Amino acid sequence: MRTRPLKVALLGCGVVGSEVARIMTTHADDLAARIGAPVELAGVAVRRPDKVREGIDPALVTTDATALVKRGDLDVVVEVIGGIEPARTLITTAFEHGASVVSANKALLAQDGAALHAAAEEHGRDLYYEAAVAGAIPLIRPLRESLAGDKVNRVLGIVNGTTNFILDKMDSTGAGYQEALDEATALGYAEADPTADVEGFDAAAKAAILAGIAFHTRVRLDDVYREGMTEVTAADFASAKEMGCTIKLLAICERAADGASVTARVHPAMIPLSHPLASVRGAYNAVFVESDAAGQLMFYGPGAGGSPTASAVLGDLVAVCRNRLSGATGPGESAYAALPVSPMGDVVTRYHISLDVADKPGVLAQVATVFAEHGVSIDTVRQQGKDGEASLVVVTHRASDAALHGTVEALRKLDTVRGVASIMRVEGE
Ligand code: HSE
Repeated sequence: MRTRPLKVALLGCGVVGSEVARIMTTHADDLAARIGAPVELAGVAVRRPDKVREGIDPALVTTDATALVKRGDLDVVVEVIGGIEPARTLITTAFEHGASVVSANKALLAQDGAALHAAAEEHGRDLYYEAAVAGAIPLIRPLRESLAGDKVNRVLGIVNGTTNFILDKMDSTGAGYQEALDEATALGYAEADPTADVEGFDAAAKAAILAGIAFHTRVRLDDVYREGMTEVTAADFASAKEMGCTIKLLAICERAADGASVTARVHPAMIPLSHPLASVRGAYNAVFVESDAAGQLMFYGPGAGGSPTASAVLGDLVAVCRNRLSGATGPGESAYAALPVSPMGDVVTRYHISLDVADKPGVLAQVATVFAEHGVSIDTVRQQGKDGEASLVVVTHRASDAALHGTVEALRKLDTVRGVASIMRVEGE
């Protein structure tokens, strides 16, 4: 084994960074044996230098992250500060000064992954980011390496633990959204401002990263259609149950049937209880992958938290350190397929639509005519009437999102349609 240690700098020492530092120390011998050289923590950039950080030599702590990444003797920079800046500049500076980078930064990878990969390649260094999607769950490496010989057609994931916790709570207790969110906040799953999670921004960043890797094509955050889950109601869960379904916030990345384009989207959807993703409870994450040769695969586990995320970071650190010792680099960006990303209107799926209508002769025929005029075929209709009003639940066959929305706009204009109570996509069938 080489005795000269590989030098690692840590940018950020919060929940994840402190766990990375702890495991680097407590597992030092095992890591050295697995890598073939010891790994030394050479510096830790933080915002608050006075905070006591157990197990970290105060002499290593600095507030000058820029000076740290410019040292020139670093082998690896681990970035766990998150956000776009200063993370982006620090990562590119690290490449310019000879270090490889391990990052957990989903927002940055989703927005600027191509530029960061280009910077890594220009300087002959690695950019690894297993921890950016679904915490501890091995997903980036299986997609980038294990499935590199296969053709992935679809990725369907629960990639946000906070929203899965809330939806699971609504499903199992009949609670409304606000009540379930309050519990998630009290238990520390939801942040004080839960917008990034409940509006689907966090999942959309992860969808962009997954779609890009799965389809060997560039998919940016702006390409991902996004709908949050704040409008999901207890009534939606009751309807889902009647259909033998539950509701999940899904990140869905698909290759079009003709293979000529891809789509990426995040929205709440009904999925059958028989689908493996339906059994993902609490704050857990899972990603279901469909490919030509392997068939169906599911990756499951904790998608957040200090230790789980640190596990993914450490796995990358070992891989990157091994590459450094062998003078090689791992796989870089693979975007050769360069497929266009189609808009949401082109997505084809099934829909569950709840309408409040007048209960009088001809209304059902009127509603059915609107669906027919837009080329949307009805699978089932269920009506429950009371005091001259009725609730009508229509489940469609597969139709384009554009056709469905044209249908709903036309339905809203009918005098006999009092309101559109909910529209929910049905996936995973
Ligand atoms: N806030 C995310 C979640 C974890 O709830 O899953 C980090 O991506």
